[in-house]
Amino acid sequence: MSNKLIIANWKMNPASLDMAKEIITEINKESKHFGDVNLVVCPPFVYLNEVTGVIHNSKKIVLGAQDVFVGEGVSHTGEVGIKLLKKAGVEYVLVGHSERRELLDTDQIVKEKMIASMKGGLKVVLCVGEKERSEHGDHYHEVKRQIENAIIKLPKKLIKNLIIAYEPVWAIGKSEEEAIKPEQLHEITIFIKRLINDILGSKELKKVKILYGGSVTKNNAKEIIGKGNVDGLLIGRESLKVKNFVELIKQIK
Ligand code: PGA
Repeated sequence: MSNKLIIANWKMNPASLDMAKEIITEINKESKHFGDVNLVVCPPFVYLNEVTGVIHNSKKIVLGAQDVFVGEGVSHTGEVGIKLLKKAGVEYVLVGHSERRELLDTDQIVKEKMIASMKGGLKVVLCVGEKERSEHGDHYHEVKRQIENAIIKLPKKLIKNLIIAYEPVWAIGKSEEEAIKPEQLHEITIFIKRLINDILGSKELKKVKILYGGSVTKNNAKEIIGKGNVDGLLIGRESLKVKNFVELIKQIK
């Protein structure tokens, strides 16, 4: 559990294949300095092949996908299923990111994607997080609902493939000052761990990494990861600024 995990969520970036190649080549060159940090890069589907071409021999960087389709058969125009992702070299998949929950991923769909991906041999980064914070602590209920609906009755043998990323929606895509305060993160991390402990048991809890995501930069990463009591980070915009991103990883290694 000591290795830290960083997930780079490129979303719909960068703007060209050449830029994608350049970014991953630079990051790959620096990866010998990553110490005990492991990195998962999640590019848009159209760049998966290029990225895997650069990192295929890496011991530090593996490939992730930003979404997955888990229906039966192959007649699904516009979708990308588990087998195709695995053939492209994908090992991890993001499930339940708030930007997908906003489109159409209900708790039920998130659970289906999670279970099918795990059974298909992918590691799943289950993203959860409240839309806003309230004085009355309603955000705890929202996070609890998302986690319970995903992991209740999760078969024991699949738990090793589960990572939970706590990403409060109000902190995503903001300035670094608006990221969560480490003390707030510490509180919710304890809450999430207790919940997993209650649902899956203490032995299984040890297998589940908990990450934080939302406006992480090279300037706040170390404090967030240290005082926030998390096992890693899920990073959007800062993961595309190579210099900053490499510095961020070196700081927390
Ligand atoms: P951000 O995105 O780091 O740009 O806030 C995080 C995310 O949405 O996963």
